[in-house]
Amino acid sequence: MTAITVALNGVKVVDDVEPRQSLADFLRDRCGLTATHLGCEHGACGACTVVVDGLATRSCLTLAAMADGRAVSTLEGLRDDPLMTLLRRHFHESHALQCGFCTPGMLITARDILQRHTRPDDKTVRHELSGQICRCTGYANIVKAIVAAGQDLPQASAAPPDA
Ligand code: FES
Ligand code: FES
Repeated sequence: MTAITVALNGVKVVDDVEPRQSLADFLRDRCGLTATHLGCEHGACGACTVVVDGLATRSCLTLAAMADGRAVSTLEGLRDDPLMTLLRRHFHESHALQCGFCTPGMLITARDILQRHTRPDDKTVRHELSGQICRCTGYANIVKAIVAAGQDLPQASAAPPDA
């Protein structure tokens, strides 16, 4: 077993993990944070995307041991995040989800896009979302929601990245 200390959604978590345990399994099975979904489990779909030290990260390709000493945020921890609140509203208004399986990864990736791009256009959002798969194929409304959220950002520049 490997001892890890993670700042998980702002709370210090100390645990022992199997060296081969993925961060996704640690979050879901050990911490009960089931908003992190597992689709392909090999880096292709993006359903498992979380934030590690401010960067959108595939948790199925990241070992839990690699999160030692890092800050990890899941969708549960971003409930009161202003940018996520804006995105949730636009996903709702644009009907940007069907079954909802891809939605946690889509929202976290959308937040990452708005932190790196000033008012991204349709083409930029489509490019940035190319690693996220929606099996319901609801891409048009997802893109629409993210573009609209970007237009709603009050400042002239992209949202600041996480500390
Ligand atoms: S479950 Fe991680 S990318 Fe698909
Ligand atoms: S809404 Fe069903 S997978 Fe995207």
